[in-house]
Amino acid sequence: MSVSAVGYLRIASTDTSAWMDFGTGVLGLMDAQRADDAGARFLRMDDHPFRFMIESADADKLIATGLEFPDEAAWRSTIDALAGAGHTVTAGSPEEAQRRCVTAFSTVQDPAGNTLELYWGRKLDYVPLVSPTGVSRFVTTYQQSGDMGFGHCVLPAPDIESCVDFYTQLIGTGLTDTLYPPGLDGLQIKFMHANNPRQHSIALFSGPHPAGIVHMMVEVQTLDEVGQAMKRAEKAGVHFLATLGRHVNDNMCSIYILAPGGIAVEYGYDGLLIDWENYVPTVSVEGDLWGHEYNFPGVN
Ligand SMILES: [Fe+2]
Repeated sequence: MSVSAVGYLRIASTDTSAWMDFGTGVLGLMDAQRADDAGARFLRMDDHPFRFMIESADADKLIATGLEFPDEAAWRSTIDALAGAGHTVTAGSPEEAQRRCVTAFSTVQDPAGNTLELYWGRKLDYVPLVSPTGVSRFVTTYQQSGDMGFGHCVLPAPDIESCVDFYTQLIGTGLTDTLYPPGLDGLQIKFMHANNPRQHSIALFSGPHPAGIVHMMVEVQTLDEVGQAMKRAEKAGVHFLATLGRHVNDNMCSIYILAPGGIAVEYGYDGLLIDWENYVPTVSVEGDLWGHEYNFPGVN
């Protein structure tokens, strides 16, 4: 296994100010206040210079998912394997790498068309998190040093089997579990982990999604901080996609809310950390221990 974590997301937004207001005022992320020639805005949650790049566009959707590799050798062998398997791998320029605060990166699309930016050598600046809402810490590391990425994301993958092969055989994720969600006949979600203890870093949903991402997750340390985010979201008039609940697989106790433009954000705590050495993947037909009553806009 080579991929270390899901390091960052690039998000296209028709209203970057609204996204920043949501990111800072509801999620409690910090405005990184980075200069950018194209006018992008940046949100940070830890020592990384940013975790979310919000880029002005005429549509709201995920642009790319940044996947972290531990070193140049692991990164290079992965992009060589992708090219060898017939995938088009495009090297990022030094200027583009600088914008992403990485040493080097290359872009590739998975079989479903999701854009991935494979990078190594994130350039950390160690500016301390000062959350505008008082979030004490976002859970992005374990044992004080190992990066677990910003959280996790679920990507649409209608051709899920070829996508699972792509991620497990070429990117280097490991399959954690498969969920056949109740009420969604014939659909499934494959949860995959990177080389860190987070139960999943990337998951694949076997249907399409107009936003290019089914949801993204950020994790805080306490139930109180989830509750406080709930109150902020209610006060801001944010749509709740799911009430408070707890998942069976990663044990995440979380809410789901809708960001401006329609990307779903899971906000949780208590995510399961796993030692992968003797792990055996599981299959489930139930997504939640309790709660998570879903309310999708336009769906009765
Ligand atoms: Fe999730």
